[in-house]
Amino acid sequence: MKSVKKLMAAAGLISILLLSACISNEESSGSGEGKLTIGTEATFAPFELMEGDKIVGFDADLLDAIMKEAGLDYEYKNTGWDPMLVGVEDETLQAGMAGITITDERKESYDFSAPYFEATQVIAVPEGSDIQSAEDLSGLKVGVQNGTTGDEAAQKLVGKNSSDLSKYDSSAATMMALQNGDVEAVVTDIAVAQHYVKNNPDANLTLIEDEDNFEKEYYGVLLPKDSEHKEKIDEAIQTIMENGTYEEIYQEWFEGTPDIEALESTQP
Ligand code: ARG
Repeated sequence: MKSVKKLMAAAGLISILLLSACISNEESSGSGEGKLTIGTEATFAPFELMEGDKIVGFDADLLDAIMKEAGLDYEYKNTGWDPMLVGVEDETLQAGMAGITITDERKESYDFSAPYFEATQVIAVPEGSDIQSAEDLSGLKVGVQNGTTGDEAAQKLVGKNSSDLSKYDSSAATMMALQNGDVEAVVTDIAVAQHYVKNNPDANLTLIEDEDNFEKEYYGVLLPKDSEHKEKIDEAIQTIMENGTYEEIYQEWFEGTPDIEALESTQP
């Protein structure tokens, strides 16, 4: 009698286990695609910044519009810059959205979406500094975010292994260093520098632009090589550029109107 009960209990347990295995399996395969995890370095206002425990900014809004349009479920995670690059390369992350410049070097290891924003580097210095152009940087203490296009541009100007070059893990840390006087100049992306100057009037910073030394850059969504999501994401970017969504988002974070035609005609 006892053993029959035991047998029935065991059978019941097994069917519960089987059932839950089915359910969880269904959850993870969903409609064919699971949730994409997308990394960022969220100290890069106005593109990505933390508001409480939420990542907000132009990139956050644009990413949301892109993913909705593409019908992809995602989670946006503040992984930090280097972990984001590593994660997308080894595909533990399915994308990176962090004001990431499309470069030939990166294209060797990654795919990029279509370009979604134009940028260039600028030099941020304390007001009254006698720096006039990028050439004046040599001999100065310069701060950059490690592994960025600003880092690369600064290396060209002050020397690759120069001890004058201080590298920081986040964008915010470079501006902190400038404000503390740890460095005399910071090379960073123009829209981020402009946003910082505007929102920190007490920091008394000015920006030096230099078209001869700093090339045009374009941001793209960073994807693993041969990402299965690239096509959908590119189509979504095109759609939201054409249906007014891009412009709406742009105007929430920037002044003026975006030059969508110019963006669409660029193939960086
Ligand atoms: N555009 C530059 C690059 O790709 C800097 C990006 C930094 N982004 C950030 N979220 N900190 O190298």
